[in-house]
Amino acid sequence: MKITIITVFPEFYDSFFKHSLISRALQSGILSVNFIKFSDMCEPKERIDTQICGPGVGMLIKPEVVQYAIEKAENLWGRGFKIFFSPQGEKMDQILLKNLANNFLIKDSKKDEYNSKFNNDHIILVCARYEGIDQRVEDFYADLVLSVGDYVLMGGDLPAQLFIESFLRLVPGIIGKSESVEKDSFYGAFLDYPSYCLPKKWKNIEVPEVLLSGNHALIDEWRQNEAVKKTIFKRFDWFISSNPNINEIKTAKKFIPKHYVALMHSQVLVQGDKVGDTSITSLDIHDIARSSATYDIKNYFVVSGLKDQQKILNTFLDFWKSEDGIDYNFSRFQAVNRIIPALSFSDVIDKIKGIEGLEPIVITTSAKTSNLNNNGPKIIDYNSQGEIFSQKRPILFVFGTGQGLSNEILDRSDYLLLPIKGLSDYNHLSVRSAAAIILDRWLGLKNRVE
Ligand SMILES: C[S@@+](CC[C@H](N)C(=O)[O-])C[C@H]1O[C@@H](n2cnc3c(N)ncnc32)[C@H](O)[C@@H]1O
Repeated sequence: MKITIITVFPEFYDSFFKHSLISRALQSGILSVNFIKFSDMCEPKERIDTQICGPGVGMLIKPEVVQYAIEKAENLWGRGFKIFFSPQGEKMDQILLKNLANNFLIKDSKKDEYNSKFNNDHIILVCARYEGIDQRVEDFYADLVLSVGDYVLMGGDLPAQLFIESFLRLVPGIIGKSESVEKDSFYGAFLDYPSYCLPKKWKNIEVPEVLLSGNHALIDEWRQNEAVKKTIFKRFDWFISSNPNINEIKTAKKFIPKHYVALMHSQVLVQGDKVGDTSITSLDIHDIARSSATYDIKNYFVVSGLKDQQKILNTFLDFWKSEDGIDYNFSRFQAVNRIIPALSFSDVIDKIKGIEGLEPIVITTSAKTSNLNNNGPKIIDYNSQGEIFSQKRPILFVFGTGQGLSNEILDRSDYLLLPIKGLSDYNHLSVRSAAAIILDRWLGLKNRVE
């Protein structure tokens, strides 16, 4: 592996390359590094930077200075895969690094003759400073523009070092045991398990007994459970965006509490502030049942205190659960089969307690921001799953019909989800659309192309 670093300050890397596994890789010859200093690409005493065009302050590295540096790098080691660092680039994470390690993926490839012929063994890192690099140079040369996060550093040298350390961990031969890389956080769907060392007791806190038991099967099981718990309770955002496979999803589900949905046709606001009832609609029954099945909601309670509405619901359920209904559309049966009729909010809570043996955490939903006050339930957003899941209680999402849930229900809830907002002022989603969006944001996988 050959890395060219084009930089203003090669001395920033002195100690970086002298230590740890990276210095060993250099000594063994697995890794070679070449520095090109921007200032060596100019005439003596000429500046490497120049003012940006148009009003405003700021200096950019001159296009020809970057060009000469890249040409010099490629004269020595052949066409390289060129990475430019910029806060505006693609965000660096383990999936991106793994893809890169596998095939030096070229995104957005205008793959012209020049870019398609790079030498797979050569990476060129272009580390800008000042206000960065002329846009034309980045557009012309960059195979990948990388950001190390949504903040602005003074130059590309720290990002280059972050890239080198994280990328080289994935290059065979750099880390002694590839097994330790594969167990790293973010390598798969789960974080690494917690690790402990001797002494057995430190500040009166003991190493978990199982780790000293000598029973490898038990230790493996404990480690896997702890890794999964940590991921689900602390970084659910990572789990859902990690492209988990079927087994990983099955494992994660051991620690994701059971979810329930209630659609309130009673105890809702009708005609302004009046509390009343609404009619059951076949679309909401079908569509929320289908969303519930998709997002693994255990049961969907359709709640109405009115006898005639319950009758309509039961007629509907009787058909879909009958042989005729099952024959007619089996997948619809699978969705509808999780519907449970309920008479009131309290009835829903009692039914969940009956199933789970535990009172559910109640999360209400509302289209109105006026509900967001300090005296009501705690407001949460779509990054709150870990906080809720770690309480290890079933979870009930409550959706309102009419003009929304009554205060009685809102006051009895533990949490209120921030309203869904689009880019317009229109604020009248149907409840079935809102339910689908909310369930997707809360439990949906955000798969990525690998
Ligand atoms: C001061 S920054 C320029 C920031 C630029 N004005 C902007 O807001 O997008 C100078 C250089 O530092 C590097 N840099 C700063 N923050 C970075 C980040 N988060 N990720 C990668 N590179 C970064 C880039 O090489 C960038 O060209």
